[in-house]
Amino acid sequence: MSILDLIQKKRRGLRLTDGEIGGFVAGVTGGAVPDYQTAALLMAICFAGLDQDETLSLTLYMARSGRTLDLSGLPGVKGDKHSTGGVGDKTTLVVAPLAAACGLTVAKLAGRGLGHTGGTVDKLESIPGFTAALPAEEFINVLRKTGVCVASQSAELAPADRVLYELRDVTGTVESVPLIAASVMSKKLAAGADCILLDVKCGDGAFMKTRADAEVLAGSMVLIGRGAGRSCAAVVTEMDTPLGRTVGNALEVAEAAEVLGGRGPEDLRECCLLLTEKLLELAAERDPGAFPADGAARRALAERKLDDGQAYQKLLDMVSAQGGDTSVLIKGFPEAPYRLEILSDRSGEVTRVGAEAAGRAAGLLGAGRRRKGDPIDHAAGLALAKKPGDAVRAGERLCELRASDTSLFPAAERLLREQIEIR
Ligand code: URA
Repeated sequence: MSILDLIQKKRRGLRLTDGEIGGFVAGVTGGAVPDYQTAALLMAICFAGLDQDETLSLTLYMARSGRTLDLSGLPGVKGDKHSTGGVGDKTTLVVAPLAAACGLTVAKLAGRGLGHTGGTVDKLESIPGFTAALPAEEFINVLRKTGVCVASQSAELAPADRVLYELRDVTGTVESVPLIAASVMSKKLAAGADCILLDVKCGDGAFMKTRADAEVLAGSMVLIGRGAGRSCAAVVTEMDTPLGRTVGNALEVAEAAEVLGGRGPEDLRECCLLLTEKLLELAAERDPGAFPADGAARRALAERKLDDGQAYQKLLDMVSAQGGDTSVLIKGFPEAPYRLEILSDRSGEVTRVGAEAAGRAAGLLGAGRRRKGDPIDHAAGLALAKKPGDAVRAGERLCELRASDTSLFPAAERLLREQIEIR
């Protein structure tokens, strides 16, 4: 069957066979299928869906589109965590080094910004010199050296996801349970970790707006992970409000470094501790002697490693091993040349800061992409001075926007003002 037949078949709501899905993934990976036909099939999948068997086929072909790593030569339990996408969601930047400081080897393939959500790879690339696209051998070398590595899909690792992910970002084809499940799980299976913790974001700023949808996505991914012989679990976490106080690449790395320094916003620290504890629980199932069996003890271990600087040191080690200049983590990142303060026009309590609007506003300021391959402005974004539950006085700052061009401010300000509620 030709790719055109597959598009028409899926548009009519019919099932694709395992062989058809394999042919599609091979065509995408090898460049034989042009972007416009790939995008058309992605859109058909968004409308007609894929059942669990089709999703499994897509995931496995995507995972095997490059090398699938065997990490058994590395010591200890290998773990990975992945978020399904949120706004201000910089948890990987904390959880990966923190879990490594707790004794796990953290082998993670991450993504770039997707739709209105940020991506860990874009965030890490705010650090001058940082290289995410590592050859497989280098990925393993970094793991051996530091116990933690965060890399991107590459020509060698999950290359099909690289193509599909970039296209989905700019063709309105992100919000689909099977496409998200296959994208996330193909990377997890290719990277080779024994334990996979999935952070399924739910709410205004997530791709899954309701808990019911988030649970369907969680169930689909866990089934795939366990079917592949991995220890796999999911937690559904709230994404109605941006996590922490910053949205935008370098701003988020700096905030994550604060949390690793034992400071930073409480909601972000809490989410990171929860995810680390759950990841260590999976690791304890794999090697009961190496990790605490009890949840409270795992949490205490994670808190200790956060507060005594060992997790922060792991981040520095990982960044150095991946070629990054750690001085920006210590002395601060170059700042965007322009700032605009959004002031409150009344006194009261902030009851809502729409996460999707915050993500879109950061995108408008230059932190995201409109077209495939667009450069991003790592310094652009926003810092929230107030979050839901905070009191505010008329004239007080709600938020500060940062950009390299003042003409980007009005649209971002309009979007945010519409989605910040004060009562
Ligand atoms: N993260 C991914 O890697 N893929 C998605 O589709 C969504 C979040």
